[in-house]
Amino acid sequence: MERELALEFVRVTEAAALAAARVMGLGDKMAADGAAVAAMRHLFDSVAISGQVVIGEGEMDEAPMLYIGERVGLGGPEVDVAVDPLEGTNLVAKGLPNSISVLAIAPRGCLLHAPDMYMDKIAVGPKARGRISLLRSATENLMAVAEALQKEIRDLTVVILDRERHADLIKEVRQAGARIKLISDGDVAPAVAAAFGESGVDILLGTGGAPEGVITAAALKCLGGDMQARLRPRHPLEMRRAREMGLSDPDEVLTMEDLVKGDDVIFAATGITDGDLLRGVRYFSRGARTHSVVMRSKTGTVRFIDALHHLDKKPFFGQN
Ligand code: FBP
Repeated sequence: MERELALEFVRVTEAAALAAARVMGLGDKMAADGAAVAAMRHLFDSVAISGQVVIGEGEMDEAPMLYIGERVGLGGPEVDVAVDPLEGTNLVAKGLPNSISVLAIAPRGCLLHAPDMYMDKIAVGPKARGRISLLRSATENLMAVAEALQKEIRDLTVVILDRERHADLIKEVRQAGARIKLISDGDVAPAVAAAFGESGVDILLGTGGAPEGVITAAALKCLGGDMQARLRPRHPLEMRRAREMGLSDPDEVLTMEDLVKGDDVIFAATGITDGDLLRGVRYFSRGARTHSVVMRSKTGTVRFIDALHHLDKKPFFGQN
């Protein structure tokens, strides 16, 4: 993929973030999500790719736009498209931190077509690459990550979704002595933040959405981080879907290469609300400011883009 595409992808996440941020705090997660989806879908029409959505808003009969299998783009390289126009719908509805608009693009066939089910995840930055394993206990992983980061376990910050299903995990991490940041939603931004030395996050542990897991892996591949995952089908239909993806053993531990093949992925994200990784959208008279990150695995370049938007000069944005 050409490097120029990276900026085009940021325009797409910026549009979705601008749309969703307008309804921040209104308590209406559907409105925020709908606005982000429509804006992202609209902007894809101007991007020179022949894209196929492999991770999106659901199956064709469930989602009017950005559904799995939908073709997007003006024409160009054949690519897989993974999108989450609004990652953290509740966060935007309540004005809480860490909601982002995000996408990952890779050559056709390179992104795991993860169905909408749960996934166990462990994610770390580059210094702890090769040191994590879902086959070991949380305590063993914390010991290995602490050693890799040349820290004590008590210096580590672990991000975990605040869910009943994590009660045992939280207990174990507390017993091991690490610090915990419990989050209410949105595990992509903190997992990606773990790959930035000074973010204050060292590791993400726990079970969250599988589509979000693939998007996280795309970012970590660009950053030289590491991740392991394991699908968590909860009933026969989900088991069947896991098998349809080619996983004969749904308990198989998935590595970075299983989640994102090869070395030509681009990841872009724009902050909607302030967070570990990105600042949220700021509005001012007839304008707005966005903060985004875009990265390419091929070169490892990470660009943070601070953009001022003159909404009255952009007919589509002007509706926001
Ligand atoms: P939204 O789909 O509402 O944006 O939620 C996203 C998310 O919080 C992910 O970040 C996380 O992986 C997953 O949902 C957790 O799922 P659950 O809320 O069912 O525990």
